[in-house]
Amino acid sequence: MNAKPFVKWAGGKGQLLGELENRLPSEILQSKTIHRYVEPFVGGGAMFFFLNNRYKIQESYLSDNNEDLILTYKVIKCNAKELAEELLELETSYLDKSEDKRKDNYYRIRESYNSQEIDYQTNSLEWIKRAAYFIFLNKTCFNGLYRQNSKGLFNVPFGRYKNPTICDEKNLNQVKIALEKTSIFHGDFTQSSDFIDDKSFVYLDPPYRPLNKTSYFTNYSKEGFNDDTQKELADFFKEMNHKGAKLMLSNSDPKNQDEHDKFFDVLYKDFKLERIPAKRNINRDASRRGKINELVVRNYP
Ligand SMILES: C[S@@+](CC[C@H](N)C(=O)[O-])C[C@H]1O[C@@H](n2cnc3c(N)ncnc32)[C@H](O)[C@@H]1O
Repeated sequence: MNAKPFVKWAGGKGQLLGELENRLPSEILQSKTIHRYVEPFVGGGAMFFFLNNRYKIQESYLSDNNEDLILTYKVIKCNAKELAEELLELETSYLDKSEDKRKDNYYRIRESYNSQEIDYQTNSLEWIKRAAYFIFLNKTCFNGLYRQNSKGLFNVPFGRYKNPTICDEKNLNQVKIALEKTSIFHGDFTQSSDFIDDKSFVYLDPPYRPLNKTSYFTNYSKEGFNDDTQKELADFFKEMNHKGAKLMLSNSDPKNQDEHDKFFDVLYKDFKLERIPAKRNINRDASRRGKINELVVRNYP
């Protein structure tokens, strides 16, 4: 059994993975080996788990600026068994309830999560509880979204699922194994620079530039990710290119909405930019869940 993402995550790369694989650097495709894999916007880690199941990754650095997501990765790496026990308890008590009671249960856990004080520096039993809440909320909230209000409080409403799997112990164990040779850290994407060298393959999957005014899924955190941040990321891409790393970046294509929008074409004009047809499901308006293009930028042929 192969490890797969342990959370549902907005922007998860699921159905694009084959297209991305076709565009890996030729030496990786030939040798089936990645010396150093760096993913600074790891999210649910769809690309990492996909590659880890097919290639020999000698070492990897996974990071994200969502502190609880990263805490959960660390807990799975060190305490998968204890986490599964905690999740099983949450799952059993949730599934035993009627829909109204489940809803109360969801909001109670959300409240406990938002009021829990946590020391992110020191690994403790509190971490296991927090990781369990994090996964529970992800599996039972509306659309598996992670969104915070301006105070940094998780504010996604209850989602009506019939039989959500909250505790997937087998997968947690596979994820634990997949994480053995990884360094996991919380931080801004720029902090990955310390680990990127000419032997690195870096996959960058930043929050999407909103497709339209009603798109709301770029708000992973209270800090947000706007056009200025996209420009900083393009500068980062150029710096890492100078270091000799192989870089692949994906994003939404603003041309889906406005064919004259050349935002990324300009930002990445020195690199290879391709448009790949993709399906996007996270949209409030079902009629907009049609075919759209995804952008893939590379600094190698
Ligand atoms: C499009 S998602 C990545 C999805 C991931 N590829 C997957 O398959 O699930 C973007 C991620 O960037 C993270 N993020 C947002 N701003 C960031 C920043 N400044 N530095 C690092 N990570 C950031 C978000 O928490 C989110 O997990």
